[in-house]
Amino acid sequence: MSSTLLRTVPALRGALRASGAPKAVGAMASTSFVRGKATLPDLAYDYGALEPHISGKIMELHHTKHHQTYVNGLNSALQTIGEAESKGDFTKAATIAPLLNFHGGGHINHSLFWENLAPASRDGGGEPDGALKKAIDSDFGSFDTFRSQMNTALAGIQGSGWAWLVKDKSAGTLGLVTRANQDPVSGPYVPLMGIDAWEHAYYLQYENRKAEYFDAIWNVINWKTVASRYEKS
Ligand SMILES: [Fe+2]
Repeated sequence: MSSTLLRTVPALRGALRASGAPKAVGAMASTSFVRGKATLPDLAYDYGALEPHISGKIMELHHTKHHQTYVNGLNSALQTIGEAESKGDFTKAATIAPLLNFHGGGHINHSLFWENLAPASRDGGGEPDGALKKAIDSDFGSFDTFRSQMNTALAGIQGSGWAWLVKDKSAGTLGLVTRANQDPVSGPYVPLMGIDAWEHAYYLQYENRKAEYFDAIWNVINWKTVASRYEKS
């Protein structure tokens, strides 16, 4: 892996640091790698467990087809870059960088997404408490204001992308960011909770009524996971 290319994908670089371990799974970079290869992480709940808010069919397709495609694409991009680098063909390696960003970002984003969801009958929904609640109240005014701003950000995404609750590492404050396509959250921001605004995340159930999906998903947000990411960041 070219260190130059990895500098273009800081979040992926962080995830790959764990690649020496047989299976590295952590709260902050839960993307799993085995011997340097990305692998599809297991979900902590059944595909139908988020119903009626997210259908089991969507969850199954989203996990086994869409996320798997990002895993495969990431491994393919890594292999191609490695081969090009070994031959000194840096032009070819550079041309693969966008694929590395897309598929690597897709793997990172979805791995975080599955973890910040939970069945409404278990840990999903409601509102955060503790230090995270205090930070949301301080930086957004209230939880309701935060949720409203997040939904506005989601509705404003043109095409495919994500909205994220993030923590600014240097300022220590919370904020909202959107990312196009599968661009990972990086730089000064730690992703705490993300909502997938790609059509594949809702269309089978909500069709063109994406605002209904953006409302419903709050019933299955796992605030324990989000609070844990906040406290460890
Ligand atoms: Fe997705």
